[in-house]
Amino acid sequence: AWPEFVTVKEVGPRDGLQNESSHIPTNVKIEWINLLSEAGFISIEISSFVHPKWIPQLKDAKEVATAIRRNDQITYAALVPNKKGLEAAIETNVDEVAVFISASESHNQNNINKSIEQTYPVLREVVEEAKYHQKRVRGYLSTAFGCPYEGDVPIQQVIDVAARLLDMGIDEISFGDTIGVANPKQVDDMLTKIKQELDMERVAMHFHNTHGMALANVLVSLEHGVTTFDSSLGGLGGCPYAKGASGNLATDDLVHMLHQMGIETGIQEDRMREAASYIQEALGKPLPSHQMQVINRM
Ligand code: HMG
Ligand code: MG
Repeated sequence: AWPEFVTVKEVGPRDGLQNESSHIPTNVKIEWINLLSEAGFISIEISSFVHPKWIPQLKDAKEVATAIRRNDQITYAALVPNKKGLEAAIETNVDEVAVFISASESHNQNNINKSIEQTYPVLREVVEEAKYHQKRVRGYLSTAFGCPYEGDVPIQQVIDVAARLLDMGIDEISFGDTIGVANPKQVDDMLTKIKQELDMERVAMHFHNTHGMALANVLVSLEHGVTTFDSSLGGLGGCPYAKGASGNLATDDLVHMLHQMGIETGIQEDRMREAASYIQEALGKPLPSHQMQVINRM
């Protein structure tokens, strides 16, 4: 049986924008997040407190987090890599912080300049301090379905890192198909194993749509009882010239599918499309989601 309600976590302002090469003005980000809030999203990842040299697009995280109109019913989240990032996030009073680690060694090294083993104590400290400040904590497990440097990542390796993350006391773990290579059978195999070893209540899925399989992967995940998915409005993100990089699963395509299946999300589709059109216009290029292609043809 399908679930009655699915939690859609909008990550466009973070995962979508972090890959955009053109500079997006801070006030545009703020206005976009305000439109998302008004559209009924219950969880929005608004930015990232990482080193500005690594992700220059999100160097205005603090301004964005403090200037958006906050709604008590909405969880505003931000990505943090370490204690320094956490402290900045706490100053801006976000509701949730997201730590991240990769299932593959070389991606972890390239992404955060540490081995997986060296990353655990950094994250443990972040989780403890975030909990002390009564923040919700989610953990991303990147390259869970494939690594741009190593290719296949063994399922047991994914489960082992996931278990270490969950042991730290995070509220939720999001399995990331960072480069969008997962296929439905692989997701089926992975979730069959995850079910045996981890608490499914705390599992979310984070698909990218490089090969157009993200919605198929969602369907398989729904069948396994997953009810939380990350997505980016319009399918924003990725660079057609960077090997392996592609946008997230498009929120508007996900929400459309769920609503057509009779599954609720709390999101108003017309308001969601207005928010998508707003960021599309600000970026000055068509967004790749199917929903936006329909609108753009009209
Ligand atoms: P590092 O250079 O190893 O850091 O970078 P360090 O601890 O050696 O410190 C070096 C300098 O950085 C120091 O400054 C620190 O203060 C500063 P200095 O003394 O030289 O002036 N620093 C910071 N500044 C601002 N904010 C901070 C911070 N931390 C240290 N938080 C670091 C390590 C983790 C900081 C760096 O590698 C980094 O910022 N990486 C970010 C990478 C990133 O954001 N990647 C994209 C997100 S992950 C993703 O997209 C996948 C996901 O979507 C899931 C999926 O798709 O699978 C989540
Ligand atoms: Mg991602």
